[in-house]
Amino acid sequence: MNISELEQSLKTVRILVVGDVMLDRYWFGSADRISPEAPVPVVRVSQTENRLGGAANVALNIVKQGAQVTLLSVRGEDQEGEELESLLRANGIDSDFIIDKKLSTTIKTRVIARHQQLVRIDFENSPTHEVLDQTLERYSALLNDVDVIVFSDYGKGGLQHITQMIAEAKKAGICTLVDPKGADFEKYRGASYITPNKVELRDVIGPWNSEDELNEKVYSLRKNLELDGVLLTRSEEGMSLYQSENVSHFPTTAQEIYDVSGAGDTVIGIVAVLLASGCDINQSVTYANRAAGIVVGKLGTATVNFSELFSQGD
Ligand SMILES: Nc1ncnc2c1ncn2[C@@H]1O[C@H](COP(=O)(O)OP(=O)(O)OP(=O)(O)O)[C@@H](O)[C@H]1O
Ligand SMILES: [Mg+2]
Repeated sequence: MNISELEQSLKTVRILVVGDVMLDRYWFGSADRISPEAPVPVVRVSQTENRLGGAANVALNIVKQGAQVTLLSVRGEDQEGEELESLLRANGIDSDFIIDKKLSTTIKTRVIARHQQLVRIDFENSPTHEVLDQTLERYSALLNDVDVIVFSDYGKGGLQHITQMIAEAKKAGICTLVDPKGADFEKYRGASYITPNKVELRDVIGPWNSEDELNEKVYSLRKNLELDGVLLTRSEEGMSLYQSENVSHFPTTAQEIYDVSGAGDTVIGIVAVLLASGCDINQSVTYANRAAGIVVGKLGTATVNFSELFSQGD
């Protein structure tokens, strides 16, 4: 497949992203005085910015490749939830939100003055059971119209039914990718690929002292959980793909590092669209690694578009 065939093929690709969404908010301002009320700076906000976070950022990375994406998630019945929805719409992402009246939409607000983050303020709580049951129903309805499913677990409780969701997809012959979180990976049983970072993997298999020990540990994890593969993202060391008897290493392509946050969202998003467009797993991971290398070199934004990613030939 050449690049223009790939570009065409990507337009027909349909991805479902399920998971925890959040609104990343930035308040920029000046801090010229100390508050008379408490020994803290007073920030006079001059600029605000909202960005898509969590599963919404994964969806954004996918849509930037020209693919079609539906985001299934839960939000609160609040202004921030509406902001999130309109930001998604503005970016061409089809969102399917179940509204939980008891939930505050997850928001992470950073207050930044003099290029320094002074504080981060989080609003979050877990969705209720009834709402999560509704999510499962919607999922079953959406399942038949997609090529690949991405689960973006940020540990906020939106993926309570993930084991059942993976099983349904498997039965329907649909490839599933999981960005995992937490000490128990049992819930991801039967997924096609999981994409932990080093800390997430260590929390589950314990520390390793050599590559051989790591290979063995990942081998048994993969076998126990009936996964096709484990894609370990290793920050400055790039990534490693573990499948049956094989392990392949992909060194990072990053030239400059400005902002590493969100690189994991790029990795899983790119692997998903490329697998869906017919690339094999090694090609998909090669490009995902290149994409991650590009986004870590960008200040502020955390996505890469099709032409940037494929401009380097092959
Ligand atoms: N410091 C770095 N130097 C070079 N490449 C990096 C660096 N950090 C990340 N990358 C690239 O981004 C990929 C994903 O990064 P990482 O392993 O940190 O994932 P993550 O911890 O899930 O990221 P996130 O912050 O999105 O959760 C790496 O496999 C690598 O290709
Ligand atoms: Mg991550």
